[in-house]
Amino acid sequence: MNIVLLGPPGAGKGTQARRLQATMGIPHIATGDLFRSLAAEDNGLGREVRAYMNKGEYVPDDVTIRVGLDRLRAPDTENGCLLDGFPRTVAQATALTSALGRLGQRVDLALYITAPEELLVRRLSGRIVCHHCNAIYNNATRPPQQDMSCDACGHELERREDERAEVVRTRLRTHEERTSPVAEYYRERGTLVEIHGARTIEVVEQEVDGAVGLRGVR
Ligand code: AP5
Ligand code: MG
Ligand code: ZN
Repeated sequence: MNIVLLGPPGAGKGTQARRLQATMGIPHIATGDLFRSLAAEDNGLGREVRAYMNKGEYVPDDVTIRVGLDRLRAPDTENGCLLDGFPRTVAQATALTSALGRLGQRVDLALYITAPEELLVRRLSGRIVCHHCNAIYNNATRPPQQDMSCDACGHELERREDERAEVVRTRLRTHEERTSPVAEYYRERGTLVEIHGARTIEVVEQEVDGAVGLRGVR
């Protein structure tokens, strides 16, 4: 089963996808995480990706589609995957539909997690992450057990580089302009479920589980 997680920065896509990966046993594929790894490399592609991310703009579709579909070709996606932050333009969604279609697969469910903008900004200002295993924490709502060290792997926790206020504003605007149409794309195909992401992590988890169960994914 293939599940797409859509939603603005800070909505909780990564938080929900990491948990679903464990409960469903299918891989969590986040283009944001893939791009952060590429951006850490000192080569042409790394510099290009870093420049877009640090401004809060989307990486161009040709690069994103190549990176996203390459990852989908790995053998661990045989039984499906959780796509976090891909597709986020209509061109990416169309490319994904074609690629899955060639394998006799489809996007079975698109979860669109939403929350008011001021809450998203507040959450992002408290987020700390592990760049080693991609675990996600929050100083206010999901603190690590030990100050600034990852519960899962012990590495030091850090802020993300794209959390400066003006970059967050650009990310929110880019999402509104370019990814809202992707929600419509899946709504028209009858696979969109909207999740109100402004409630506690546990309540959102229950709603996500309901949506996933309703579609017969588990
Ligand atoms: P990406 O890494 O995907 O960033 P994003 O979309 O801006 O989303 P975030 O990761 O910031 O938010 P999230 O929804 O995962 O929230 P989280 O679970 O962490 O992409 C980064 C960049 O890469 C893009 O700007 C772009 O440049 C590029 N890129 C990536 N994919 C691309 C694509 N397809 N095309 C083009 N470019 C692409 O939660 C946030 C915080 O809130 C955490 O601290 C968490 O603990 C907390 N939290 C979560 N849920 C709750 C809750 N219910 N209650 C309280 N706290 C909560
Ligand atoms: Mg994320
Ligand atoms: Zn870790």
